[in-house]
Amino acid sequence: MPSSRPPQIISAYEFITPVVAHRGASGHAPENTEAAISLAARHGARWAEVDVTISADGFAVIHHDHDLQRCSNGNGLVILKRLAELKSLDCGSWFAAEFAGQKMLALTDLLTLANHLELALNLEVKPTPGRESETVWAIARALEAVPFEQPLILSSFNIHALHACCTHLPHVTRALNTEAIPRNWQERLEEAGCQGLHFAKEFNDPALVRDIRAAGYHLMTFTVNDPDVAQALLRAGVSAVFTDYPQRIIQALNQALNATLNH
Ligand code: G3P
Ligand code: MG
Repeated sequence: MPSSRPPQIISAYEFITPVVAHRGASGHAPENTEAAISLAARHGARWAEVDVTISADGFAVIHHDHDLQRCSNGNGLVILKRLAELKSLDCGSWFAAEFAGQKMLALTDLLTLANHLELALNLEVKPTPGRESETVWAIARALEAVPFEQPLILSSFNIHALHACCTHLPHVTRALNTEAIPRNWQERLEEAGCQGLHFAKEFNDPALVRDIRAAGYHLMTFTVNDPDVAQALLRAGVSAVFTDYPQRIIQALNQALNATLNH
């Protein structure tokens, strides 16, 4: 008998690991590029976070800033350039000469790469304000073109983007990004239709973390490059930390685990 109930959603947080590579292994390679993503996997990360925005012709691309200045040899706004022009830029030389020729990734390129690396993804939606729906629609189209075989979380600081995720990608796990943990966290998470909250390490508040976990939500914290800080957050109940140096944090966590087992 056909069921009118929606399919069971398995939260991607069920598969989360304590370390998520922030923009790839961005401490060692140019952020959000194939080099940084591949290096994160080689360094032992099972998850990577990247930033997603759109080109002038409506394709989802992997880039953090609204403009091209900092992370490429181009200039001007990403959203005013067509995909072909964005892909012709050098997105590696700004970081180090050895990365010359790294290209801006279309989301479809990234999905293919992450499938190959068996790397789970947190796509942080970074829309130009006013273009939230188009940005999420572009993500949905990329996921149709390249079915993603790994766990996936969509997150954003932008409430309109999160609402668009609810509409266009309702079965994908969602997270609200904030700097500080909001006092009215439950209302904010419900309003945004999110299962997780991602916040900045400077605003760690163990009592709030405990309450949010007890309510069944997941927390993740950015950007944590100090192993001691990572361990304190994980002990407090945070599910994972975003780091530019996944190898450093994974090694420190493994050492701490071995030390505990040997006592
Ligand atoms: O998604 C976590 C973190 O990446 C949010 O801040 O500026 O590094 O994208 P930002
Ligand atoms: Mg980000």
